[in-house]
Amino acid sequence: MPKLIYVKASPRSRSHSSRVAKQFIDSYRAAHSQDTIEELDLWHMDLPPFDGDTIDAKYAIMHQKSQTQGQKESWNIVTTMFKQFSSADKYLFSVPMWNFGIPYRLKHYIDILTQPGLAFNVTPEGSYVGLVTGKPAVLVYSSGGSYRPGSGAESYDQQKNYLKLWLQFIGFKDIKEIVVDGTLGDPAKAKQIEDACIKEVNEIAKKF
Ligand SMILES: Cc1cc2nc3c(=O)[nH]c(=O)nc-3n(C[C@H](O)[C@H](O)[C@H](O)COP(=O)(O)O)c2cc1C
Repeated sequence: MPKLIYVKASPRSRSHSSRVAKQFIDSYRAAHSQDTIEELDLWHMDLPPFDGDTIDAKYAIMHQKSQTQGQKESWNIVTTMFKQFSSADKYLFSVPMWNFGIPYRLKHYIDILTQPGLAFNVTPEGSYVGLVTGKPAVLVYSSGGSYRPGSGAESYDQQKNYLKLWLQFIGFKDIKEIVVDGTLGDPAKAKQIEDACIKEVNEIAKKF
């Protein structure tokens, strides 16, 4: 049976991005009752330190050198986490904007996952090739302000470009983006935007 992994990056119980993602999951479950859904709540997951041993283990692989015992142990943990992530057929992310970028727990998770031989390979010519292929992803972003085209604030937005670029780097091609923005602005307008996003995810989830 197909499996959907939901990566949740907001720690807030009243999170806008999580609320829209929950709607997605409810609609998805109704339309795909046999599928498995696994939630990875980054704020309740044990993320191993991304430390010297882990980085040296990565470079040992990239430079075809053998790993020390410490590096091997770090690499085993990284491999296990990557296998869990890559075990899905489809992905849903909910991601708040924090200081123009993504929350640090998500960046930490990305650093753990983005490994040679697992998430990407380097060809003999020096090109990078993503290895997580053929899997669609839906990204639900939230932000207090608005960074839409024409807002004049586009260049501040390091949340959406970064996450999408990372997913493309590791091999994703089919990426849909939902933007729940203006959450700290006028409440009526914010509700209007969120309602429109909920409608949009309900439609996407049915056919995902
Ligand atoms: C630590 C922190 C940093 C934030 N930085 C920004 C920011 O740079 N730009 C912005 O528009 N909103 C910013 N916000 C507001 C959040 O993006 C907004 O509250 C959003 O709704 C959070 O997503 P959530 O409701 O899913 O948790 C920040 C909020 C927090 C907690």
